[in-house]
This record gives sequence, structure tokens and C-alpha cells, in this order.
Amino acid sequence: MNKIVKKSQLSETVFRMAIAAPEIAVKRKAGQFAVIMTEEKGERIPLTIVDSDKNEGTVTIIFQVVGKTTMCLAAMEEGADLFAVLGPLGEPTEMEQFGTTVVVGGGVGIGVAYPIIKALKDAGNKVIAIIGARTKGILILEEDIKRICDRLIVTTDDGSYGVHGFVTDVLKDLIGSGEPIARVFAIGPVPMMKFLCEVTRPHNIKTIVSLNPIMVDATGMCGACRVSVGGETKFACVDGPEFDGHDVDFDLLISRLRMYCNEEEEARKGCRCHE
Ligand SMILES: Cc1cc2nc3c(=O)[nH]c(=O)nc-3n(C[C@H](O)[C@H](O)[C@H](O)COP(=O)(O)OP(=O)(O)OC[C@H]3O[C@@H](n4cnc5c(N)ncnc54)[C@H](O)[C@@H]3O)c2cc1C
Ligand code: FES
Repeated sequence: MNKIVKKSQLSETVFRMAIAAPEIAVKRKAGQFAVIMTEEKGERIPLTIVDSDKNEGTVTIIFQVVGKTTMCLAAMEEGADLFAVLGPLGEPTEMEQFGTTVVVGGGVGIGVAYPIIKALKDAGNKVIAIIGARTKGILILEEDIKRICDRLIVTTDDGSYGVHGFVTDVLKDLIGSGEPIARVFAIGPVPMMKFLCEVTRPHNIKTIVSLNPIMVDATGMCGACRVSVGGETKFACVDGPEFDGHDVDFDLLISRLRMYCNEEEEARKGCRCHE
């Protein structure tokens, strides 16, 4: 059992929780995730470990309510016990002094970008963060990210805040301005990562993406999370979740993410957690 120590709401559908998990708090590195089970017979869902506090023995997660399990999680309050938190899982982000790096976060992917930005700064890199959301009301972590990066550019699709447009447009301008970018990290909706890779490919800028395929066991046994990278099958839970974006077959990932839409909709309709 793992207690929810702190809970806050970042937007209409996005929540932040600090959860007691002392062993994971000590071991985890940027880029890794945990598997959360709200109840014994519940689904195992992968969520990125956004931060940790070794003294308090807590890990922080940021999640968007999209279906049954995230609905149930959002309905739990401070002091409640989660059935299990397993981790840290996945390969940590490859970290070294690259030079100037750009980290792009879209939607709830901004939460996943946060620990990568922090680790890149700790490793001595210049970090330019580009964060984007559809509209101002759902933009998360602006102040938190401003505190840890060298430069922050905010975009909204509808122009309600920051630069009017997509994160891809801002990255294009940044590259065009002659900024010597050593590496790009992109985390967000799959189409965003796909198009971002097409922006960096002609300039030969290595672009790391964090993939979110459906996972079941998250231990490399079931094959549910398989993705195609450079023509090879990889399991995102043990080989990833980060890969070289120029080698990823994004169209296959998109079609695999849609595989269980009907079942997920049924589960969502049957969920009574919020009542
Ligand atoms: C390594 C990894 C890290 C992730 N980190 C975060 C995070 O920090 N914050 C966050 O909000 N989300 C994160 N996700 C996605 C999160 O796991 C899913 O949103 C969650 O499992 C959905 O569960 P559900 O029962 O609420 O929704 P479901 O009813 O199962 O699904 C609703 C929608 O979410 C998609 N989905 C379902 N399961 C997954 C899954 N395992 N991975 C990706 N998409 C899924 C479905 O295609 C569907 O569109 C991460 C996924 C992976 C693989
Ligand atoms: S989730 Fe089963 S192999 Fe990755």
C-alpha cells in the first residue's frame, strides 16, 4: 500500500500527487516511470515519475484523466492508500553535457518533460523549454519550468496565451535563428512528436521522444507495448520509453493506441469512482 500524501489539481483534467514510495524515491532517475494500481483487481497504468523527495520518501506523478483508472485515481483523496506503486521502470534518459538542448512538452507531456529539463540542467546543459497547450486554461507547470530552465517559450494553439501556434513552429524558428542545438527532447501527443521529428530531421539534430504505447505487465513479458524503431521491434517498457524519434514508426504506434477504444469507452461508462 502507498499513501497519497498530497494532491492538487493543475487544470480541469490534470492532477498532481505526491505518493509515499521511499525506495522508488531513492532509486528513480529522469525518464523513468512507475506502474500504479489503485486497487487489487484494477488495471496497471504506467505514469512518469515527475519528481521525488528522498527525505520525505515520496514520488510525484502528474496525470490526465482519460479513462477508467485515471478517473478512479483522480477520485482518491490525500490520506487514501493506493494498492501498489511499482518501479522505477524503464531506461533512464541518456544524460550528459550535450551543449544547448531544447525540450518540447505538449499537453500533459509537459509533466513528463519536467524531470528531463531538471536533469539536463544538473548535467550542465543550456536548456530551452518550449511548452504548448491547446488553450491557456489547460497549460500546466509554467512557473515550475521557468524556475529550472534557461529560457521558456509558451505556445497555445488558439493564441489565448504566449505565442499563437504550435510548438513545431517555434522550434522551426529557433533552428532558423541559428541557435546551435545539440539535442531535442519531445514529449507529448504522438502526432506532435511525429511532426517535430520531421522538423529536426533535415537539420540532423538528434531527437529523443518518450513513447506511450499501451502497457500491460510493464516488465517485458507480454509484448503489449511493442513499437517499431529503425525496423526492429522494441518493448517500450524495458527498452524505452525513450527512443531516437527519427527511427520510430509513429503511424504504427497511433494505430496500436486505438486498438482498444471500444473496450476503454465501455470501462469509462461503467466507472462509478467519481460518485
Ligand atoms: C511510459 C509511460 C509513461 C506515461 N506517463 C504518463 C504521465 O506521466 N501522465 C499521464 O497522464 N499519462 C501518462 N501515460 C499514459 C497513461 O498511462 C494512460 O493515460 C493511462 O494508462 C490511461 O488509463 P485509463 O484507464 O485512465 O484510460 P483507458 O480507458 O485505458 O484509455 C483511455 C485513453 O488512453 C490511452 N491509453 C490507455 N492505456 C494507455 C497506456 N498504458 N499508455 C498510453 N496511453 C494509454 C488509450 O489509447 C485511450 O485513448 C504514460 C504512458 C506510458 C507508456
Ligand atoms: S508492457 Fe508487456 S512487454 Fe511491455
